[in-house]
Amino acid sequence: MDGERIQVAFFEGVAADHPIAVLALYNKEKDVNIFDKTLGQEVQQAVDLIQKREPALVVVCSRHAASFCHGADIKAQAALPLASTAARPMVEEIKDLLNQIENLPYPTVCCINATCLGGGLELALSCTYRFADVTCRAIGLPEVQLGILPGAGGCVRLPRLIGLTPALELIVAGKTVKAKKAQSLKLVHGTLEHLTWARDASEPPFLAQLRNKLQRGQLRHVPAASKFPSHLFGQTWLEQQLIYTVTKRTIDAKTHRHFIAPYVALETVLKCWGTSSLAQALAWETDGYLQLAATAEARSLMGLFLAKSSIKARSTAIRHGQPDTRPLFAFVVGAGWMGVGIGQKLARHGATVRFFDVDKEMIDRAQTRVSRLFTGLVNKHRMSKVEAQERMEAISYTTEKDFAAFEQQAQAAGAISVVLEAIPEDMALKHKLIHEVMSATKNTTFVSNTSSIPMAKLCEGLPVAEQARIVGVHYFHPEHDVTPVVEIIPGPESNHESRLSALRIADLSNKLPVTVGDGPAFILNRIASPFYTMAAYLLVTGAASQERIDKVMQRQGFPAGPFAILDGIGLKTARMVGQSIQGLTGETGANAAQALLGAMLDRGWTGRSFQGESTGFYAWKEGKQGEANPEMKAVSQIVRSRLAAEEDAQHGQGVLHSKRVNPISDADVSDALILSILNEACRALDEGVAKEPMDVDMLVTAGLGFPPQQALAVLLAAVLPLACHLWAKL
Ligand SMILES: NC(=O)c1ccc[n+]([C@@H]2O[C@H](COP(=O)([O-])OP(=O)(O)OC[C@H]3O[C@@H](n4cnc5c(N)ncnc54)[C@H](O)[C@@H]3O)[C@@H](O)[C@H]2O)c1
Repeated sequence: MDGERIQVAFFEGVAADHPIAVLALYNKEKDVNIFDKTLGQEVQQAVDLIQKREPALVVVCSRHAASFCHGADIKAQAALPLASTAARPMVEEIKDLLNQIENLPYPTVCCINATCLGGGLELALSCTYRFADVTCRAIGLPEVQLGILPGAGGCVRLPRLIGLTPALELIVAGKTVKAKKAQSLKLVHGTLEHLTWARDASEPPFLAQLRNKLQRGQLRHVPAASKFPSHLFGQTWLEQQLIYTVTKRTIDAKTHRHFIAPYVALETVLKCWGTSSLAQALAWETDGYLQLAATAEARSLMGLFLAKSSIKARSTAIRHGQPDTRPLFAFVVGAGWMGVGIGQKLARHGATVRFFDVDKEMIDRAQTRVSRLFTGLVNKHRMSKVEAQERMEAISYTTEKDFAAFEQQAQAAGAISVVLEAIPEDMALKHKLIHEVMSATKNTTFVSNTSSIPMAKLCEGLPVAEQARIVGVHYFHPEHDVTPVVEIIPGPESNHESRLSALRIADLSNKLPVTVGDGPAFILNRIASPFYTMAAYLLVTGAASQERIDKVMQRQGFPAGPFAILDGIGLKTARMVGQSIQGLTGETGANAAQALLGAMLDRGWTGRSFQGESTGFYAWKEGKQGEANPEMKAVSQIVRSRLAAEEDAQHGQGVLHSKRVNPISDADVSDALILSILNEACRALDEGVAKEPMDVDMLVTAGLGFPPQQALAVLLAAVLPLACHLWAKL
């Protein structure tokens, strides 16, 4: 059989008339296997075909080197009807298929050669034996990360196979394990080598070993009922209560109760565990799955997953389907907070980096910080000492703007050459630098990390040939992998090479490149700006303290509130970016955030600093957040009086004139801030700066920490009732 997703072949067995049947997953359209509808249908055909030949052994394997099976088709799951009555038959069909495999009257062996997730592992669990390739790095059931639970037997078979506690660790956290760990968990029976059936090989390379095992009686038919060990911890009511309490506490600590899926998964696994009937357990699992699949959380998380794939596909299209493996030479200008973070990240992943700064002291500090960052990676076993040393040797520091020499070195190495600027948010400074780079180089791409200045503004006055070499790559926090995205901003004339350079920078920084339209502050900062302004307004008017506002937003699922984020950006940079956005959008009038930041900077406060102690909205020590700054109340009052006086002078008695507004409720704080984000997101979409809602979703969740379980697409559906609710209060 040679289907679209599956190939079936028969090979010599041990006894005549009883061949070995090999069912190989092989998606002809992709380089990974996905458990989609076609695969399900073809597995069914394969099972029917195999049974006619009465094989001695059935082997399930993959012909894709990097994928046994990456799991279910998320697009199809996201499109499942919300009503469980309509969705149930589809789920039951897959379960029925896996039951048929489990009940085949021959031994079945699953050869997990590479990534084996979700539905892929559930297929493996229905086999009698599992072997994993020693190189396999990801085996698991990550469904909760999509707001659902394993719905094709994973919640039932995995605990029965490896025990309740280890199974819950995998299911509830959506964790994946490597081959060796899978073996120690008894999830696989052993590890073998070369478990991929390469496309050109006529017989699977591992078949001889399996034939041998079969001959020695090591692969026998085991009926489903006796397939699972019966001595596992968790048999008594007390043991189950203990496991429940400990697991729930772990989920509480990890998710702060912002997600439903881990809790439903926990309860479902325990419920299924409590019955000896496999059929009953599988039915309960279906109930749990359907309950979750209909939640906003699942729709939102699946939407984000699909958005990520579509955004990746866009980059692939720009590269005409070809991977770009060229080396990168990056001349980083401005060795401050962002420059060093970005440069070190690029160097870590193989780029050759040179740092320049006008301030010699910043260069010395850069060397110390880079060395500290690499030592941190070595200490966390994310890099060997030798590797760290090698990567540090690829970094140089200079006080000369030797752009021409750098370009020549890059050319000699066949590398992409870029000058990446991370100097202050000052248009004149950036323009001057662009002129210097353009006159010294011919092919180098100028990459700006500006937070707010449109590429069209940076290109003003330049010949088209030079504009072609300018592109924006806007990072958020490069250092700590907390923001897995960057904004890519093509300028009005950016050429293909500039776009490729921007994508290569994103690759080497391990970030998802979201291409956005050109405009003041692009997408993320544009949306973040009213968020900060609204937060500052609430603080200045006395509606809520900075600490309460941050806590309310954290309770909503944000990892940090607006004031902790502003401290993290650095008060000076936050102010410059805010001023730049105001200038670019022509916004006039009182801006509480600007006034507040100005007053704080006047007092010498800087926000978070990674060395020593510093002050912002909070106290900071070695980069760690401490108590809320008690002086903020007095500073806010001073700012309020000043803004009120300005407002009065401009418009007569303004809103701020009243002495102090009454504190507002937590719910109103949250509504005001979330609505400020939604409002600006709608405007960005309307103006075409954001091309599709998925771009906004991806950026606000990954960049601003907007709760992913209520991503914008879902919130937009909720925006009208929310707006009406607020309207009613006014
Ligand atoms: N801080 C953030 O969170 C953040 C996030 C995204 C983007 N950005 C953007 O990155 C850029 C840099 O921000 P930052 O926070 O790293 O600032 P920073 O003040 O930490 O660093 C700027 C560095 O540039 C140096 N510099 C000043 N003029 C220079 C010149 N003419 N040539 C070379 N070096 C010069 C300074 O000495 C300083 O070391 C800004 O455009 C900012 O908007 C910042």
